[in-house]
Amino acid sequence: MSKSYITTPLYYVNARPHIGHAYTNIIADCLARFKRLCGSEVFFLTGTDEHGEKIRKVAKLSGKEPQEFVDEVSANFKDLWQKLNVEYDFFIRTTFDFHERIVQEVIKKLHTKGDIYKEKYKGFYCVPCEAFWTAIQVKESGGVCLDCKRELEVIEEENYFFRLSKYQSWLISYLKENPEFIKPSTRYNEVLSFLENNSLEGLCISRPKKRLSWGVEFPLDNNYVVYVWFDALLNYISAAGYNQDEERFKSIWPADYHFMAKDILRHHAIFWPIMLKALEIDLPVTIFAHGWWNFEGEKISKSRGNIVNPLELIKDIGVDSLRYFLLREIPVGGDGSFSWKAIVNRINSDLANDLGNLVFRTLNMAEKYFSGRISSSSPAVPREFREVLSEIEGSYKGLMDKAEFNTVLEKIFKFINVMNKYIEETKPWALWKAGEKEKINIFLYSLLEGIRIVSIYIWPVMPFTAESINGQLGIKSRELRIENAGWGLHGDFKVKKEKPLFPRIDVS
Ligand code: MSP
Repeated sequence: MSKSYITTPLYYVNARPHIGHAYTNIIADCLARFKRLCGSEVFFLTGTDEHGEKIRKVAKLSGKEPQEFVDEVSANFKDLWQKLNVEYDFFIRTTFDFHERIVQEVIKKLHTKGDIYKEKYKGFYCVPCEAFWTAIQVKESGGVCLDCKRELEVIEEENYFFRLSKYQSWLISYLKENPEFIKPSTRYNEVLSFLENNSLEGLCISRPKKRLSWGVEFPLDNNYVVYVWFDALLNYISAAGYNQDEERFKSIWPADYHFMAKDILRHHAIFWPIMLKALEIDLPVTIFAHGWWNFEGEKISKSRGNIVNPLELIKDIGVDSLRYFLLREIPVGGDGSFSWKAIVNRINSDLANDLGNLVFRTLNMAEKYFSGRISSSSPAVPREFREVLSEIEGSYKGLMDKAEFNTVLEKIFKFINVMNKYIEETKPWALWKAGEKEKINIFLYSLLEGIRIVSIYIWPVMPFTAESINGQLGIKSRELRIENAGWGLHGDFKVKKEKPLFPRIDVS
């Protein structure tokens, strides 16, 4: 059986989750469900990044001990994933004991290899981001933090460093030999060109306790804690059993997809592969950096204060509509503009008018003309469906594998519209008047087969909807498997219509 290891970033717990976090987890969930649909053994990992000064500070502001605070916020993320129907296999928190132990073991290992050294260092430091920037970077940014654009402090202190430079030329060759390693290709080009035009400096992986205390204790020197990023990246192997259960680790690693947005691509595409190489561990298969959701032209983020709350959106429009909107509206690699108008358009036209209406009126006819019992007819695919259906069959797996969800949905909705047109052109009401029962049975069987196949294809994107359609068609959920998506595989139908799947949203 093939296996698939899929990860999301570990989100900082300094604030509640917003729509940007929800987006990444919906992408990862969609891919994980697709892999399960195809019979793959999936390990889907998500979690929270809980160390660092900014988290300690927010905890203090809310009058709580750091651990109590991170327990609460981490639970908010878990709750959101459950509400969004994100079915992960394990939720890792960087404050778990086993993870902290692995971080320390890794540092000791790399130190023994000579890849970690101590040095006095003067650098430009951003306190909120806990990041050091080089003189060249600071010159380019005009003296502010490259991430949050805040003022920087000049800090001089002794720290421990990880020797990135030793592996730079190896990484360049690796990227050249593996052009599929970073996706989309624009991001691959960016990383490669960055590496070819800059010399990597040592990565500062310690923070003195006098300045920052909420972290994994540095194993070589108890005056320090470990830099949050060095700690957090290691979750991808600690959660898979590294240095704890080698059998399990072998069966899960390497990760097949690391999902994140472009803001943290360098951490994943430069630091992480080098850390793995130094540890003599295989590299992940794909690092996938998606785009940003913006709101009125600016990235949606906590620091900009323009967050969109996914819990409220779920209440207003429902989980599947939200998942559909986010995955249909933009290609995964691009940026998207978040607006209520765009959501309403998508829901009313694609979901209420096209899909919802198709299911409702087909089942309505099946009940009206045959009391819900439609016998299986000739297995031939109606002429009208052939082209569009074979286009989906031929491209579905390849596109889903590349996380090209918007293109897949476009093709599926083309088929839905072909079915709607088929109803209009066949005019079943006229056939009924003419007593053509046999013809109406064939016509309805074709539509029910089409809808059944659609429900399998859309399951990764809209699981509740697919399951509800299946229930209405009298099919068990366990039949939601890709090998059942062939035409004519279902026998007689016994259907039972429910209320419309997607009520229209009133904009007046
Ligand atoms: N803790 C680090 C990640 C460590 S992974 C080992 C971190 N956390 S974060 O809370 O800031 O999350 C960043 C991630 O959240 C992005 O890479 C992306 O997955 C998601 N998003 C946050 N804002 C987003 C948008 N506005 N649009 C799309 N995704 C967004 O970085």
